[in-house]
This record gives sequence, C-alpha cells and structure tokens, in this order.
Amino acid sequence: MKKINVNLKKKSYDIFVGSGAVRRLPKFLKTMEFSGPVVMITDKTVALKTSKIIGPVLESIPNDILRVVLPPSEKSKSIEVFQDTIQKISKKTKTHRPVILAVGGGVVGDLAGFVAATYRRGVPLIQIPTTLLAQVDSAIGGKVGIDIPEAKNFIGAFWQPKIVLIDTDFLTSLPIRQVRNGLGEVIKYGVIKKGGFFEFLEDNIEDILALKKNVLEKVIFKCVSIKADIVAKDEFDVKDIRIILNFGHTLGHAVEAASGYSKSLNHGESVALGMVIASEIAYKLDMLEKKSLDRIKKLIKKAGLPVKLKGMLVEDIMKAYSYDKKFTKGANRFVFPNEIGSVEIIEAIPELPIRSALSEYVE
Ligand SMILES: NC(=O)c1ccc[n+]([C@@H]2O[C@H](COP(=O)([O-])OP(=O)(O)OC[C@H]3O[C@@H](n4cnc5c(N)ncnc54)[C@H](O)[C@@H]3O)[C@@H](O)[C@H]2O)c1
Ligand SMILES: [Zn+2]
Repeated sequence: MKKINVNLKKKSYDIFVGSGAVRRLPKFLKTMEFSGPVVMITDKTVALKTSKIIGPVLESIPNDILRVVLPPSEKSKSIEVFQDTIQKISKKTKTHRPVILAVGGGVVGDLAGFVAATYRRGVPLIQIPTTLLAQVDSAIGGKVGIDIPEAKNFIGAFWQPKIVLIDTDFLTSLPIRQVRNGLGEVIKYGVIKKGGFFEFLEDNIEDILALKKNVLEKVIFKCVSIKADIVAKDEFDVKDIRIILNFGHTLGHAVEAASGYSKSLNHGESVALGMVIASEIAYKLDMLEKKSLDRIKKLIKKAGLPVKLKGMLVEDIMKAYSYDKKFTKGANRFVFPNEIGSVEIIEAIPELPIRSALSEYVE
C-alpha cells in the first residue's frame, strides 16, 4: 500500500493507493466527527459490480448506512439529481450532519462532493473512486460540481475530502472502454510534466490496457503524486499552476457538451480529442514540433482513444466553447504543449486557428 499526502495545512489529507485500500474505511470513520448515518452515494452499475469488495467493508461499520443510488451517466451531474439527492438525505438526517461516501467514478465523485460541500453548508466527504479516471484524477483535489445542459462543471465548489481510498481491486470489473477513458487523463499527465512519464506510457501501454497490476499501480501512483503536488501549490486554481491540469479540457469540455453528454463520447475520450486539437493549434502557432505532435497523437491512438471528431459540427463545438470557464475578462486561456513534458498558458487565441484545427479533425 502506498500513501501520498495532499499538503493543505489544516485541510491536509492522505491518499492510499493499492489492493485492499478500501478496508481502511471502518477504522478511519471511527476517527471522524459526524452525526447520523453514513451516506453512501453511488451509481447502479457500481453498486452491482463492486458489491463483493465494498459489501463486507460496509457490513463491518457499526453506523446506519443510507444508500443513494444514481443512474450511471454524466446526466446525473444535473441540478435535478442534485436536488433529489439532497432531499433523500435530508429526510433521513433532519437533525444530523452526516458523512458522505462517494463510491464510484467521476460522476458520482463530483455530484456527491458537491452535495457534501453544500448540504448544511458542508459535511465531511470521503472519496472511494472505482474507475481509473476517478482514481488518477477526479477523486483528488477537491473540485466538485455539476453540469448545465450548455456547459460542463458550470456549478461547483472546492471541497476537499478527508481521505481518498484508491483500491485497485475495483478496476478488475471495469470495461475496456472505461480503462481507455481513464487513459485520457493519464496521457495528459505525461504531456504536462517532465520526468519520463510519457515515455513510460509509450513503452507500457499494452500492459496498462491489459490491467497488469504492477504497471497499473505505478501509473496511478505517478498521476496521484503529480496531482497532489499541483493541488498543494494552487488549491483554488488562481496561481497559473493548477491550470496546467486543464490541458485538453478547453476544447474537450466543448466537445463533450456539444455531444449532449451522450454515450458516444465519455470524458476521457473528449479530453483525448481536446489534447489532439490543442496540440495541433500549438503546432500551427509554431510552438510545438511536428515530431512531438505525432507522438502525442500516436499514443492517444494506441490507447484506443479517438483522434477524429466523428459526426460533429464545428459550429456546435464553438458554441459550447464560448462557455469555457477559463475565459478571463473575455479573453480565452489555453494550455498548449511546447514539447513533451512541458506546457505553456497562452491567452487570447483568435478564433481562426481554433476553427481551422477543428475543421481538420471533423469527419
Ligand atoms: N473533479 C475533478 O477534478 C474531475 C477531474 C476529471 C474528471 N472529472 C469528471 O469525472 C467525470 C467522468 O468520470 P468517469 O469517467 O469515472 O465516469 P463515470 O462516473 O460515469 O463512470 C464511468 C462508468 O463506469 C461505471 N463504473 C464505475 N466503476 C466501475 C467498476 N469498478 N466496474 C465496472 N463499472 C464501473 C459507471 O457506472 C459508469 O457507467 C466527468 O463528469 C468529469 O467531468 C472531474
Ligand atoms: Zn478531466
């Protein structure tokens, strides 16, 4: 078992990574301050697929457990599901401040985290991520929130968990498309940070896709370490440090919203497309060598992620893009790679190169 600390002074917390990590839950709950039941928020698929792992752990907890089971879809990150969840919890916890357990992928983590941040002005949160994407990214760092139909994560908060339990055993039931989904964020870490991680991914992509335990644990540990370090330096995303985690997300979010949060594109696939297009724009602006652009595209392809915008309209993507949160004072801010392992923040990119790069990738 590996441990990483997110250093945020009074809000610091530990992240445990490894097989059996979730078994630390009962002991940790005993150290926490809360009243009323333990509220477990999950989704229907996770409840079904992970019951053998999580079931015995929950049985060994003496507290009452209130289960809130969401539909498994990005569409659960909505105002309606948020309100419904809050009402279910409030009916059972009228006079209490419960602890919230988020057991699931990034959708459950973001929604449950937002519930924890806002219910009675904030109750404690524990993140138990069950997808590769959530284990390497969304369960760490405290960004929680929900979508509006026009744009992703448009309502949200910063709410750090008390602990993150990353149990790699959960990944055994993950469909291959979800492994690839997580690799969208994993490749992002390879492009934004030096130290040979991108090369490691190039050399080991087959083993990762085959869920080889020791390689997978290395990958998760590396991603979590990078993210924990960035979050500790810039918790609230105001110092131009945390923004580099947004590589591939400006247009990725636009693509995801333009697809109507449908099953045709998940978050990691959208980020993969966002990374390809951002790298293409960087190449067009003479910031990135062709060789590096090709390596980024090749790794994304090898991971089984899309590199073409199938059946999408440039106009729809541009409309969703106009909602991007990283617009400050009306000017857009992009994270572009200038080589593998290094990115730059560039402001006020005109629409033309964005449109032209998008048009090249529409099929
Ligand atoms: N807060 C952040 O910092 C942050 C960072 C990255 C992504 N995100 C958000 O995360 C979301 C995407 O997360 P996701 O890709 O995990 O999606 P998800 O939560 O929808 O999970 C993907 C699918 O896998 C299923 N699943 C989960 N665990 C499983 C398991 N162990 N076995 C079998 N099936 C399982 C789920 O039921 C779901 O159908 C997006 O909304 C994105 O915006 C947030
Ligand atoms: Zn993301």
